[in-house]
Amino acid sequence: MGGVRIGLIGAGVMGRIHARCLSRHVANGELCAVADLDSEKANGCAEEFGADAVYGDHLALLADASLDAVLACTPGNTHASVIEAAARAGKHIFCEKPIDWDLMAADRALGVVERAGVKLQIGFNRRFDPAFRAARQAIKRGDIGRPQIVHLISRDPALPYTGPKAPGDLYFDSAMHDLDMVRFMIGAEAESVMSYGSAMAAREHGVGEDPDTAMTLLRLKGGTIASIDNSRRSVVYDQRAEVFGPQGTVCVPNQPIDKGSADGELPFFAHRYLDAYIAELNAFVESVRKDSEPLVTGNDGRAALVLAIAAFRSYVEGRPGAGQRDRLAHRAAIRRPGSLLRALRPSRAVPYEARGRRFRLARRVSS
Ligand SMILES: NC(=O)c1ccc[n+]([C@@H]2O[C@H](COP(=O)([O-])OP(=O)(O)OC[C@H]3O[C@@H](n4cnc5c(N)ncnc54)[C@H](O)[C@@H]3O)[C@@H](O)[C@H]2O)c1
Repeated sequence: MGGVRIGLIGAGVMGRIHARCLSRHVANGELCAVADLDSEKANGCAEEFGADAVYGDHLALLADASLDAVLACTPGNTHASVIEAAARAGKHIFCEKPIDWDLMAADRALGVVERAGVKLQIGFNRRFDPAFRAARQAIKRGDIGRPQIVHLISRDPALPYTGPKAPGDLYFDSAMHDLDMVRFMIGAEAESVMSYGSAMAAREHGVGEDPDTAMTLLRLKGGTIASIDNSRRSVVYDQRAEVFGPQGTVCVPNQPIDKGSADGELPFFAHRYLDAYIAELNAFVESVRKDSEPLVTGNDGRAALVLAIAAFRSYVEGRPGAGQRDRLAHRAAIRRPGSLLRALRPSRAVPYEARGRRFRLARRVSS
């Protein structure tokens, strides 16, 4: 196969980053079409990054028979339906994280992908970051012995804090990356998840009760304990890792970001992970060209979603008297962003334990 002809679905913040990377840094991929519900965004992106065709939504773009593959960069809770439609149209799919917010929808989409025989790569870009990759290699080589404790710090700059895009997005948007990184760095699945969350910035800024601060704990099969520290209100974009084992410690320190490279914005993910975005797109294009398995699969996307749901439920239900009402509120909140989570005021966290392919509320904290 020669160059891969690619259509971009969703020309928002992340879609434009991928369009830029694809048009400048991916030799074997070509940005040929752009679709967005907002025609100004679609036209602007196509013009700036050299795509010939412009469409009004994903279905119109998917009907373009000249395209081999798509980059799905619509909001996270639309991903499963876009993946499903793309697979039915026979297109290979690079889908931004998360695979979706809804596990049933994700499972349906994964079934369609499998039956269609197309590639699906999920946009867990941090797996392609040179610093995190080097840390993982050191762990795999056995440099520190069997990992005992993992600390991940992932804090976003947001000044002033304006609230979440959707209730729970600290878990489904931000922690999602870190949950994947725990799996990637250690190579083991979680057997227990619990999370404390707080709406600190949200209350101070009068933008609701959704958590902007969280600490999530996982116990992995084999005994490793992982902590994930997330905040939406950091002065700097803060991305760190420390993995401790009996023979040493591997650290990924925060990387300084060149402020001058931002178009007047706070230095953020677009600058910190530029190399990783380029590398993940190259990997996707090569997996299509060589008919090889993507380096980040749909099942990796599913596994991180299962963990995010468990962490979010641990946070939501971890208050006295929480139960069915909260579960319904959670479901409704995911479907209708901005709705019911205001009513929830967690005061303690409860663990979720792995049972089969999902996590269930633990009856007691196991040692
Ligand atoms: N990997 C990363 O570092 C990273 C960083 C930021 C965002 N993301 C992910 O990227 C995704 C998009 O986030 P964003 O910040 O770019 O959102 P955004 O709101 O800026 O852009 C989404 C775009 O999709 C368009 N859209 C929605 N439905 C569509 C449809 N059916 N057809 C065509 N266009 C459609 C919207 O009009 C909008 O322009 C999210 O899943 C987010 O989690 C990933």
